[in-house]
Amino acid sequence: MSKVLTAVAWPYANGPRHLGHVAGFAVPSDVFSRYLRMAGHDVLMVSGSDEHGTPILVLADAAGVSPQDLVDTNHAIIAHELADLGCSYDLYTRTTTANHYAVAQELFHRCWANGYMVERTQKGAISPSTGRTLPDRYIEGTCPICGYGEARGDQCDNCGNQLEPEDLIDPRSKIDGETPQFVETQHFFLDLPALADALRTWLEGREASGTWRPNVIKFSMNILDEIKPRAMTRDIDWGIPVPLDGWRNQPGKRLYVWFDAVVGYLSASIEWARRTGDPEAWRAWWNDPEALSYYFMGKDNITFHSQIWPAELLAYAGRGARGGEPGVFGVLDLPTEVVSSEYLTMEGKQFSTSRGYTILVRHVLDTYGPDPLRYYICAAGPESQDANFTWADFVQRNNSELVAGWGNLVSRAAAMVAKNFGAIPAPGALEPVDEQVRASVLAAFDTVGGLLAHNRVKAALAETMRTVGEVNAYVSATEPFKLKGEDQRERLATILHTLLQCVSDLNTLFAPFLPHAANRVHAVLGGEGVFMPMPVIEEVHGLDAADAGRVYPVVTGSYAATPAWRSRPLVVGTPIAKPAPVFAKFDDSVVTTELAAAGAGSTRDGA
Ligand code: MF3
Ligand code: ZN
Repeated sequence: MSKVLTAVAWPYANGPRHLGHVAGFAVPSDVFSRYLRMAGHDVLMVSGSDEHGTPILVLADAAGVSPQDLVDTNHAIIAHELADLGCSYDLYTRTTTANHYAVAQELFHRCWANGYMVERTQKGAISPSTGRTLPDRYIEGTCPICGYGEARGDQCDNCGNQLEPEDLIDPRSKIDGETPQFVETQHFFLDLPALADALRTWLEGREASGTWRPNVIKFSMNILDEIKPRAMTRDIDWGIPVPLDGWRNQPGKRLYVWFDAVVGYLSASIEWARRTGDPEAWRAWWNDPEALSYYFMGKDNITFHSQIWPAELLAYAGRGARGGEPGVFGVLDLPTEVVSSEYLTMEGKQFSTSRGYTILVRHVLDTYGPDPLRYYICAAGPESQDANFTWADFVQRNNSELVAGWGNLVSRAAAMVAKNFGAIPAPGALEPVDEQVRASVLAAFDTVGGLLAHNRVKAALAETMRTVGEVNAYVSATEPFKLKGEDQRERLATILHTLLQCVSDLNTLFAPFLPHAANRVHAVLGGEGVFMPMPVIEEVHGLDAADAGRVYPVVTGSYAATPAWRSRPLVVGTPIAKPAPVFAKFDDSVVTTELAAAGAGSTRDGA
């Protein structure tokens, strides 16, 4: 049994989530965490809303509200979406807490004291017409590395490289198309070259483990070759103050996202511990070199997690070329694995709120329920290559795999038991055909579990579905529905007992992917209570003097009752009623309705 930190990328509190977001980080991290808990590990799963930064400011300006009001609204929306999707966070919090401010400042201050923060003059962009600073993300231009025409000032979404706005070819303001003016401004840079050797040693060790996805380790190794100091502060007035004399009170200087949201993994772990009443409890996941940590995100975030965050942790511990001593948090563990997914497109187009091709998580949850979506993402999501969501595929997978495959097996099995016995019958002696199906279902615990432990969700689900096929073949081979005679009653009892045991085990195997359905199948099998624990929304108070008056929602939960990853013998005599359907079939008209609603079905826009 290990301590495992599941660190899930922090979504921007800039609006509701769309499918691309949850396909990349939310569902994969939850499947992993649920499986590991079932396998007996001690999981701490944390994340939160990333509430600072310029997009938030620009949106708040446009809406005529304060940035705090805007993120209050969006944080609550996102927290509810993730909870309704069944994401089993120990804590999903936010970056505008006093706890997060203090943790980010402690990290920054120690990195500075250890000599890894260098002050530099940089060119910052301003809008010539308004004189206001123009945030990096609001500068667009051609990427100097790959030639992509819509690279942002901080990063190119096409090649994933980090950029500085003045690197862009033909820079322009995304707000009004103006050409920005670059002026001198003071900032702190993380001295990444002084951490490069330590980073390389760590990354080579990770490469040798052979567990990282090939794209991710390759990309991480490549960016190490071009390492350079990176600005950790920004000209902006919404964010965490720089914790140094002469800087603390400057309203226009704040920590940049590289030193804000990414620190959230640690601050959320500390907040979780403080809320449990054992404020040091987080250390078991962070200070013990044996503890494991898995970071989940989309590929535009790899740099964050395989370079910047580990560099910050090394600088904090004083483990770079400039030496130094760790601060109060001690020596903090570096990531075990950066589990990055690729991109999800919708009907062949990139998800884009601004261009109207977007499918909101809330809409899918309310219309189709969480598990068809979770199933789709696990079966066809962008796990290790880009994937394309289509409504036709969504309906087809739901109807022919979830409903006709798994759902039908559950209903058939329970209906036969209900009709013939009304309760789980005692089996007689097993025949070879019974032994065989039991053996293949039991073997699936190892194969599916092994795949899930390595985040091979797609293959794990395929293996589970293949096992459903074997159990269906068992029904065809034994034909229990033909055993009507009194002298066949014992054989019928044996087959139906064996079948129901297989269904029960399959439900355990499906549980990390489909936790809501697992609870319904559990009830169909006569089980009591909840099988898979679910997250809840809790309204909590701020923990510190600075935010004690604040009340905000978090996602949390108690997952101690998670069932073990093994077969649970059926209890003979448990009453089984005629089952209610576990999944719903979707009408084919869903495809045209949804396409029309999303505007993606029209030919106006071309391909
Ligand atoms: N909110 C940012 C993004 O979505 C960063 C998320 S990852 C974190 O790209 F580590 F910074 F939280
Ligand atoms: Zn590029």
